[in-house]
Amino acid sequence: MPNFVRKKRLIFSLIVFSLFFQPEVRASTAIHGILSKIAEAINMVINDGYSAQEKKYLDEIHKLRERYSTDTLKIKNATVAYMESRFSMPHHPWGELLFSLVRKLKPKSFLELGTCIGISGAYVTAGLEMNNKGKMLTLEHFLPLVPVANRTFKDLNFSRAIVLGGEIDSILFKAFDELAPIDIAFDDHIHEEKPVLKNFDLIYPFLNEVAVYLFDDIDHNVEMKRAWKNIQNDKRANITISLALGVPYMHHKDYDGVVRPRIGLVIIDKKSQEKRHTNLIIDSVTPCNHVYFNKNNLSIANNF
Ligand SMILES: C[S@@+](CC[C@H](N)C(=O)[O-])C[C@H]1O[C@@H](n2cnc3c(N)ncnc32)[C@H](O)[C@@H]1O
Repeated sequence: MPNFVRKKRLIFSLIVFSLFFQPEVRASTAIHGILSKIAEAINMVINDGYSAQEKKYLDEIHKLRERYSTDTLKIKNATVAYMESRFSMPHHPWGELLFSLVRKLKPKSFLELGTCIGISGAYVTAGLEMNNKGKMLTLEHFLPLVPVANRTFKDLNFSRAIVLGGEIDSILFKAFDELAPIDIAFDDHIHEEKPVLKNFDLIYPFLNEVAVYLFDDIDHNVEMKRAWKNIQNDKRANITISLALGVPYMHHKDYDGVVRPRIGLVIIDKKSQEKRHTNLIIDSVTPCNHVYFNKNNLSIANNF
């Protein structure tokens, strides 16, 4: 067997092992099913395990991002290019992870908090389009971003995304009317402890019996670290996974210290009493962080 196949198999086994085989754990069938899908999704990202059609969808998003990287259209004092490079999720591994999770978990309903210009939403919607099933509602409070996000989905020919503009507090219940029960929720809006925890409280009753809740940037700052600690201790969050893909690779002024960007995954089974936390660190990933970053946008951006 060629070495690279052996290596891929080994990595996949390690993921499955760390997710499942902790001595005190016996996962419910529903949780077990979701864990294996999550392991498959991670495996897809780290081994570039996409079909030709999946690659095509990802490439389309990549091309759009390249176009955006020189787009000088103003959004208040910044530009589309700046929002793309500064606030949007990197293509690899995180955008791909959203895509792969959607491909594997096949949600009917996906709720995103924090649309920006629709980049993370594009990965989610690409997955839904390929699944030929489900819709995504994404919420954005800064109204000038809404038409740009709508343009993102239109340019990609995606029809399964709906952008709702307004303050989260006032539009969340509209989203529940439209979407509940929610299969996957993704919190990537304001990175502060109180709103992150408040949204979890508000959204939880509208989650499906078995659901996944994702928190972006769990190491972004002290508040996010505290919020994530709270979620880890919350009985409603049956399984929590701190997922790091890639070695610590940069010092970013927005982060406290050296960054190893991590995402928090929560698996919820409302009928289960299980409670467990796992740290999953996969170093063999080279993140492409903001590859399209164009320094010329910085001066405009600083006034944003
Ligand atoms: C990190 S960006 C989201 C990036 C996006 N998910 C992506 O990766 O393409 C955070 C977004 O949340 C929005 N936001 C911040 N506070 C908000 C609030 N209270 N209600 C709704 N949106 C909010 C910001 O305007 C910003 O567009």
